[in-house]
Formats: sequence, structure tokens, C-alpha cells
Amino acid sequence: MLANHYEWVWGSSPPPLARHSEVKHALLRGYLVEYFSTLVSSPHQDRIQLTIVDGFCGGGRYTTQSGAAAPGSPIVILQAIREAQLRIEIEQRRRKPIVFDVELICIDESPSAIDHLRHVLIEQGYENQLSGGSIRLLQGDFVVHCESAVAEARRRSPRAGRAVFILDQYGYDSVPLAAIQTIFSLHRAEVILTFAVDALINFLSEKNLSDFQRKTGIQAPITARELDEMKKTPGWRLYLQSGLYQGITRESGAEYFTPFFIRSERGHGDFWLVHLSRHWKARDVMTTTHWKHHNHFIHYGDAGLDMFATGYAARIDDADRPQRAFEFDDVAKTRSIDSMLAQIPRAIATYPAGVRFQDFFESRVNLTPATRQMISLTVLQLASLGELEVIREDGKISTARSAINGEHVLRLPKQRTFSFPGTSPGITSSS
Ligand SMILES: C[S@@+](CC[C@H](N)C(=O)[O-])C[C@H]1O[C@@H](n2cnc3c(N)ncnc32)[C@H](O)[C@@H]1O
Repeated sequence: MLANHYEWVWGSSPPPLARHSEVKHALLRGYLVEYFSTLVSSPHQDRIQLTIVDGFCGGGRYTTQSGAAAPGSPIVILQAIREAQLRIEIEQRRRKPIVFDVELICIDESPSAIDHLRHVLIEQGYENQLSGGSIRLLQGDFVVHCESAVAEARRRSPRAGRAVFILDQYGYDSVPLAAIQTIFSLHRAEVILTFAVDALINFLSEKNLSDFQRKTGIQAPITARELDEMKKTPGWRLYLQSGLYQGITRESGAEYFTPFFIRSERGHGDFWLVHLSRHWKARDVMTTTHWKHHNHFIHYGDAGLDMFATGYAARIDDADRPQRAFEFDDVAKTRSIDSMLAQIPRAIATYPAGVRFQDFFESRVNLTPATRQMISLTVLQLASLGELEVIREDGKISTARSAINGEHVLRLPKQRTFSFPGTSPGITSSS
């Protein structure tokens, strides 16, 4: 278990802001602003209602390297709500303001962190929300409060069950699978989970593997007894990461996931920022946010539509790291589109009668670091090259070059040639 280096005592200087926290906060802010904007897509909507749970909230303020104050996650969330509200009002040219009926529940096991947060909130002008109950501070273990937080989210939003849980644990064993399953009893829940996967793997022994499994209910892909043998095999670290990822996502109750990492400054020390959700749109907003913060995130799988095809990493170097990391930058974008130009026609060939774009997208979305927009653009490029046909709702072939919608059907042209890797070019496909 990692030691907790965060200590907040009101009157003393707040703890230093670590680089990975800064990155997490930027992603959280960017994601929430986009998320709220997608929730309010119509200018006629006048209210959104949801619950945000910051399950490991900390004391609300940090000290930067230059000695300035930087906000902690509860303040970042509140600022993101305000920013989204302003953006929606401006972009939708609203006459009537949009009401954000958001309850923020902050949980921390440290009484002094909660006390510090209360002071920070009052100092920043949130006293009315605290006394009115739209910001609630709870001291204690997240797991102990999880069920009542889920019940509160359900009470506030019985039909939609809309809630975002930010679970910024310091380490890897404070969020059991059972708690995640409770959260996903809500229809529209989302979880943003920090998981110090390298910290777990670097010090993996028979004892801490079985402690981890017992405490979290997350199954690793090996038994404690196999561990020593496994550590002699190349790529064992990535194999384990991949297995843990599947162990978390398979049983979580969520349908959509992203498994990308916050890049460590050097060597092993990566943090996972796993996003779990129940709607493809939420997944797509999160993936788009990763591309926007491309300097700080990394993916150790392949580009294109089959990112785990080679067992989570394309090639492993001497230090057991993938040689070509995927960094959500322009190089990664080109690689993604190039891979998809080859993969999409092959995938569409498996649907002789064609497939709705929406069905195709949803069946692949968990397996790609690409956004929906990147997939649509690749499909349109393939259509313009005559490699694919896009059929409109009226049954005619679409010639649109700029837009594709979920109802459009993708199919291979009746007679076309394409080549699979490892076969000679020019195999004719009739569909
Ligand atoms: C990494 S800090 C999180 C800071 C905060 N999310 C932010 O970004 O500003 C982790 C916090 O989790 C709290 N914590 C550790 N274990 C916990 C648990 N089991 N339940 C609730 N809080 C816990 C610690 O006291 C610490 O304040």
C-alpha cells in the first residue's frame, strides 16, 4: 500500500500539487464542461439534475511549486459547473438561464482534510450551498458512505439515475468492485477511477496480490503461486495490466470504458485513469478529452479499432515497455486513421447485409482510442475512395463528404477488391 502524503491542516500551508494531480484536474475540468454541454443539447431545456460524488476529496487546496494556491478536486468540480453554465448560456444565446441542480457530496476519511475543505469552500463563497445542502461534506471511508451516496443520487434523479463518481484513491485497493457495482445500479452513472497500477505491479508479491484480491474483489489474471514464474516472461507487466483492466471492467456493471494512463515523468509509475460509463456518448466525450490533453496521457495498446489485439502493447522494449507509445498527438491520430483505413473495410465485410453506423460504432467503441469523429471521418474517406458505401435512410447511396449519422448503413460495394495482410493483393469480395 502506498503511504498517503496528503495532509491538510487549516492554518498551515496546503500540500504540494503533484504533477499527476495537476493533469487529473485539467482532465476532470475539461471532461465535466463537455459532459454538461452534451447534457444540455437543446436551448429549450431549462434544468439539469445530477449528483457528483467526490469520494476521496482531500482538503480543497494545494500549493504549487512557485508557492501559489491551486484548487483541489471539489473546487475544480464547482468551477467546471460554473464554466459550463456560462458556456451554454453564451453558445445557445439563451434568454432564460439554465439551472444546474447539482448536489456535490465530498467524502474523505481524514477529519482535518474535511475541516480544511470546509474553510476553503467558505472562503471561496460557497457558504450558502454548504448550509443549503447542495454541497455536503462527509468524513469517513468512501466504502462506508458509498451506498447512501448512491441512494441519494437515485432519490434526486429516480428516472435517469444520473451521477458522476470521482474516485481518486491514493493507491489501488480502496475502491472494491462491489462499490463500483453498487454505483452502476444507477442507469446513467459514471466513474472516474484513479488506480496506481504500477505501484501494485512493482511491489507485487504473493502476499500483496492476495491481499489486493481479497480487499477489492478484483481478480488478477494469475494466481499468487504463478507470480514468480510469470515475472520471468517478457511482457508480464502488460499482461497483468490487461488482465486487471478486464477484471475491473467485466464485472463493473458499466458498458463503456477507457483504460488510458496519466504519463509518469520517468520510468514505471503510471497511474490509470479508468473511466466507466453506461452510455457511448460519455465514453466518447472522455476519449475526446484525452486527445485534447495529449501531452499527459498515454495508451499502451495499438491504434485503430483493435487496441488490445497484440496483448495490450505492440512491442516491448528491454525495460518491458512498449516501444511505440500512443500519446494522443498528431502522430497517434495519423496512426489511428491509417490503421482504421485498413481495418474498417475488413470489419464491414463481416456484415454481408451491411451494418448501421451506430451499431458498428457501439460494437467497437471499447476497443479503440479513436473518437467517434475520427471513425466517421475515416468512413467518409473510405466512401470517397470507393472502398465502402454509405446508404442513407431512403436506401440511396450517400455522397455526403462531411457528415454521417447513426442510421446510415455501411456496406462493401457489390464488387470490390481488397487485400488482407499476408495474402496477395487483389482478392475479390462479392457481398
Ligand atoms: C490523492 S488525495 C485526493 C485529493 C483530491 N481528490 C484532489 O484531487 O484534490 C486522496 C485523499 O483520499 C483520502 N482517503 C484515503 N483513503 C480513503 C478512504 N478509504 N475513504 C475516503 N477517503 C480516503 C485521503 O485522506 C486524501 O485526502
